[in-house]
Amino acid sequence: MSATKSTNIVWHHGKITRDDRVSVMKQKGLTLWFTGLSGSGKSTVAVELEHALVENGYHAYIIDGDNIRHGLNKNLGFSPEDRTENIRRVGEVARLFTDANIITITAFISPYRADREQVRALFAYGEFVEVHVKCPLDVCEGRDPKGLYKKARAGQIPEFTGISAPYEEPASPEVTLDTSELSVEDSVKKLLAYLEEKGRIRLA
Ligand code: ADX
Repeated sequence: MSATKSTNIVWHHGKITRDDRVSVMKQKGLTLWFTGLSGSGKSTVAVELEHALVENGYHAYIIDGDNIRHGLNKNLGFSPEDRTENIRRVGEVARLFTDANIITITAFISPYRADREQVRALFAYGEFVEVHVKCPLDVCEGRDPKGLYKKARAGQIPEFTGISAPYEEPASPEVTLDTSELSVEDSVKKLLAYLEEKGRIRLA
């Protein structure tokens, strides 16, 4: 699906550099790529992190799986090929947001290691931060916030991640949030501390 079909196209450069944006916006954008099972807490932590960043004067934005599938990616389902295309497109969008110097937070199951590595390869070193939102399947299933695990167990949703489709854990994520043990607040604190340590933000 992602084969190159465009020909006779030439890259057009602007006048504004990344450094120009950094000095205007007083931050260095990057992408925090959340990956984990449905119900692991990706969106919940993303929402609170975005809120904390904006409250502290930073420009942050969430790109969320369920939301993107309402628009940009509404023509994609959950086959391995469609998930790969979903992640490829979102990776490109996250790269654009990062180039615009936004602290970008993506929340997609992104179950395939190879797909995540393809996205990582689009970014400069340090600008793609893989965040494993880690939570045992039985805990995600117990939470079942959208009632989807129940439906998947009943055979009503095919290819459901963790039940009838795979999830490949990251081998060496930059950050791991074990949401069965950490509160949402502590997960946010851990991410803010990471960003501060890497010089991306400075908290008062
Ligand atoms: S991904 O695998 O392609 O990264 P994405 O994060 O965009 O998935 O979408 C996952 C969301 O779609 C889940 O949180 C859930 O609400 C919904 N969903 C619907 N069908 C499935 C399915 N078969 N497997 C996983 N999630 C599904």
